[in-house]
Amino acid sequence: MSNIKVEKVFKRFVRRGQMTDALRDVNLEFKQGTFVSLIGPSGCGKSTLLRIIGGLMEASEGMISVGGQTPQQAQAAKQFGFVPQAPALFPWRTVLENMNLPFEVNRKAGINLSDREDPVELLQSVGLGDFIHAYAKELSGGMQQRVGIARAFGSGAPILLMDEPFSALDEITREMISYQLLNIWETHQKTVIFVTHSLREAVLLSDKVVVMSSRPGRISQVIDIDLPRPRTPDIEDSDEFHHYVSLIRGQLRERWG
Ligand SMILES: Nc1ncnc2c1ncn2[C@@H]1O[C@H](COP(=O)(O)OP(=O)(O)OP(=O)(O)O)[C@@H](O)[C@H]1O
Ligand SMILES: [Mg+2]
Repeated sequence: MSNIKVEKVFKRFVRRGQMTDALRDVNLEFKQGTFVSLIGPSGCGKSTLLRIIGGLMEASEGMISVGGQTPQQAQAAKQFGFVPQAPALFPWRTVLENMNLPFEVNRKAGINLSDREDPVELLQSVGLGDFIHAYAKELSGGMQQRVGIARAFGSGAPILLMDEPFSALDEITREMISYQLLNIWETHQKTVIFVTHSLREAVLLSDKVVVMSSRPGRISQVIDIDLPRPRTPDIEDSDEFHHYVSLIRGQLRERWG
């Protein structure tokens, strides 16, 4: 079981003699196969926490375990897939060739990833079935982001770290893509840690929402989203959905004042 445990994590940045405490006393647990969102004001340490979990940065204090391994060991064992704000696609390669990229890179490094998913099926589930042989440069921003998501789900990594993957998209595209992410996640059930500023996305997608407060970044509340799955668009009109959205909004506002 690749559960992720974060215990008493503290992170201090020191730059030109100036100290910033980005995270203080962060304790969290991410169960394998769950979808967890991190939400909180700008600068509260969401990206920092994601980088520490993913082994890209060290905590100043505290302990992180990824199924019994350190984040660095887990990263070396290809446990993590990253989905950034803009996907790193090669424009002159086709969509399918871009999907194959992580496998080529790993093969060259002598690593053969097992349990490979069908790239065509993954592309179909994000609505790109007709664009498999198109060049990445011929796609819109939203389509490129969907390739990035499909690729992460097909990469063989059991844990996906997504840092505001939809922030560069317009609202309508964003809404559509959130349902495609929901669909692909409900089929493949990887562990996802998803940073967002959108209350709607956090409630729609997540099993748990972690609300953070800033200066220094702390966990202010962890809210279980007890809505049935599979989740369909009509769920957004339900009283329960609105209840969760206002619960999180209230929690965020309390911390402003
Ligand atoms: N490499 C760094 N060096 C120094 N300070 C840093 C570094 N990275 C982040 N910080 C500081 O740590 C704090 C948390 O930053 P972080 O990027 O994690 O916030 P965030 O919650 O992701 O914000 P946003 O919602 O704007 O993306 C901020 O005060 C930031 O200035
Ligand atoms: Mg950030």
